[in-house]
Amino acid sequence: MAKKKYEPPVPADMMPQHIAIIMDGNGRWAKKRGMPRTYGHVQGARNFRKLLRYAREIGVKYISFYAFSTENWKRPDDEVHALMNLMRKYLKEAYDYFDDRVRVVLLGDREDFEADLRQQFTDIEKDTGEFEKMTAGIAANYGSRHEITGAARQLAQLVKEGKLEPEDITEELLSDHLYTKGMPDVDLMIRPGGEQRLSNFLLWQCAYAEFYFCDTLWPDFDSKELDKAIVEFARRTRRFGGL
Ligand code: FPP
Repeated sequence: MAKKKYEPPVPADMMPQHIAIIMDGNGRWAKKRGMPRTYGHVQGARNFRKLLRYAREIGVKYISFYAFSTENWKRPDDEVHALMNLMRKYLKEAYDYFDDRVRVVLLGDREDFEADLRQQFTDIEKDTGEFEKMTAGIAANYGSRHEITGAARQLAQLVKEGKLEPEDITEELLSDHLYTKGMPDVDLMIRPGGEQRLSNFLLWQCAYAEFYFCDTLWPDFDSKELDKAIVEFARRTRRFGGL
């Protein structure tokens, strides 16, 4: 069967370059069905893969997903374990989709993962490093303040070693020490699941982002919902040109 061709919901020059998504509402989605929270994450992860591929089809160049925050370690062990296993599964599966030519980047502190998962992230980054169709950032063990603090430390170290003058620290240089190095700022930040907050996700990178919130729970946030968010983004952006 011929591969289905998707059209972008707005003209290509009005598409957001970088979309970020907070995948919220998995637990509630499962609860509504009388199922354990981990079942919600399984469906959420399926949806992650579906939307990742859809975004690529419609020409999104950069997309970042919030999969696990630095605060999420506080969740019950079985839930943390289930989320780690889902990451293992989907990182492994990414090798079945090499024709998609999607570069995968870990946004987060890799040190806290178990050795095998840390290795999986290292491998996938290396093995997809040259892919040019789209970049997918997977934010795992991610916290924006942690990220910015880390960048400040790296720069301070360079100053201490006499390799950098304090006055040479620019916004660009700081950006180059974030996990998102080489990625453009976020244009469109989407949070399904009914909450309207950023939860320590890409604070620096969202300085000029448009925000889109909706009540749909993440496992139900499908390609039509993504289209709706993009259309809303294009409508808002278009106003910049007029009065
Ligand atoms: C928030 O929903 C979601 C998370 C903390 C985890 C998101 C992870 C996935 C979708 C799966 C793993 C990711 C990859 C990349 C394979 P919640 O549980 O806080 O929902 P609630 O607000 O309804 O409780």
